[in-house]
Amino acid sequence: MKFFIDTANLSDIKEAQNMGILDGVTTNPSLMAKEGIVGTEYILKHYQDICSIVDGDVSAEVIATDFNGMINEGTQLAALHPQIVVKLPMIEDGIKACKYFSEKGIRTNVTLVFSAGQALLAAKAGATYVSPFLGRLDDIATDGLQLIAEIRLIYNNYNFKTQILAASIRHTMHVINCAKIGADVMTGPLSSITGLLKHPLTESGLAKFMEDYKKGNQ
Ligand code: G3P
Repeated sequence: MKFFIDTANLSDIKEAQNMGILDGVTTNPSLMAKEGIVGTEYILKHYQDICSIVDGDVSAEVIATDFNGMINEGTQLAALHPQIVVKLPMIEDGIKACKYFSEKGIRTNVTLVFSAGQALLAAKAGATYVSPFLGRLDDIATDGLQLIAEIRLIYNNYNFKTQILAASIRHTMHVINCAKIGADVMTGPLSSITGLLKHPLTESGLAKFMEDYKKGNQ
């Protein structure tokens, strides 16, 4: 399972990268705005900064919602850095743009996916990644994990190569359950990754080892 971090915060990206377990980064316009990154020039520079920190794929989202606009923006984003994956919204023009980029060998991430049918279309269009938003489904009392399982089944049935990128992950149990279902990638905040480190028995066990070592080496 690949671990992506879902943020535009450089310090969080560096911390995950330094742990040695980071496989990539996802961003979106809301995450960019949260970091105060506004204006095309600064946004493009920020993507380059992110690419210089991580080794893996970095999803950069288009703002345009029409086919030509998405093609222009996506082409510009892909040219920024070889690690960039063009992130496209799950709308009709987004699917057309996905097909266009896939035929050109430019990697894509189809985002804002909330149903198995949408995920099927993304795979048919040759998406590199599909991003079902697990947490946002849970927010409206709909089982987000069930959607990940349905997409896994459908992709397995037809051997689609599109990778399931479980997005809108909020906490460690989302990560673990996605791993059980077989999501290819998870993307979430730093806390959803660092939270996996924690267990009280690890902490108390280590404290006891250190205490006993000190006693024996006085
Ligand atoms: O990757 C999608 C993600 O950014 C959405 O997460 O927590 O805003 O639902 P969230």
